[in-house]
Amino acid sequence: MKIRKVVIPVAGWGTRSLPASKNIPKEMLPIYNKPVVQYVVEEAIRSGIKDVVFITNRDKSAIEDHFDYNHQLEAVLDRANKTELLGAVHAVAEMANIISIRQKKQLGLGHAVLMAKEVVRYDDAFGIMVGDDLIFGEDAGLVQLMKMTAETGLPSIGIMEVPDDKVNRYGIVAGEETSPGVYKVTDMVEKPEIGKAPKGSNLAIVGRYVLTPEIFDYLENATPGHGGEIQLTDALFSLAKDKGMLAVKMKGHRFDAGDWAEYLSANIYFALKDKAIRDGLHSRLTELLKKY
Ligand code: G1P
Repeated sequence: MKIRKVVIPVAGWGTRSLPASKNIPKEMLPIYNKPVVQYVVEEAIRSGIKDVVFITNRDKSAIEDHFDYNHQLEAVLDRANKTELLGAVHAVAEMANIISIRQKKQLGLGHAVLMAKEVVRYDDAFGIMVGDDLIFGEDAGLVQLMKMTAETGLPSIGIMEVPDDKVNRYGIVAGEETSPGVYKVTDMVEKPEIGKAPKGSNLAIVGRYVLTPEIFDYLENATPGHGGEIQLTDALFSLAKDKGMLAVKMKGHRFDAGDWAEYLSANIYFALKDKAIRDGLHSRLTELLKKY
């Protein structure tokens, strides 16, 4: 089974990131020195996928531009002998093949994924990565699902445990654990109220999916669910009941970039890893932490 493309929905309003995202896409907010979306695309590249399908809208062209050449800027950096920066800027334009599809109405994540139908319908399977979720670690993230689906032929989704008081922020999955960290999905609910998650589960969908094109039949017939939106989770649950689906615990670190505490932690995490600023940042943080 060959998995060649990943769909990254980026057309949402990003209300959780306002007012910062009023005039720039939330996916372009920086985490240390790179925009959020670049980390997501880099994860796709690490998984061996170069074809990236953005589901986008009229206000999000900055995302496509980021993955294109900026000849003028490159010329300026070249003349100034800023070789390292030039390399970094150039590399982003080379990293992926970008296919953009407009979602003309923001009707929900399920509807956004349906927009990719014509581009991926003839593929064996394809990935989906929700741009708010950042996952890091060796062999962590999408690649785990690619292996699982290639092995079993079944669609697979990424999950992680979340505290019980956060189940209302995610799609929650219940299932039978068939091998360590792998569950056969038996129930799924999009953002259940606290205390009402299926079977008391706290296994949350973390925005990584490897699906077969069968999902489009279910999305086409989906009716509005949670929040009046066409929910991917609802279509997935119908598919799971008919054909089976696996939920796989993701390894590695995860940051939810749509949550300010997590977003800021991700910034600090990456900045502390860079020797160039680590010491300075460390002492400033220590000072601040003494005060607050
Ligand atoms: C979406 C999905 C949800 C999933 C989440 C992961 O929600 O609908 O099931 O748990 O991504 O980030 P959103 O964050 O778009 O509200």
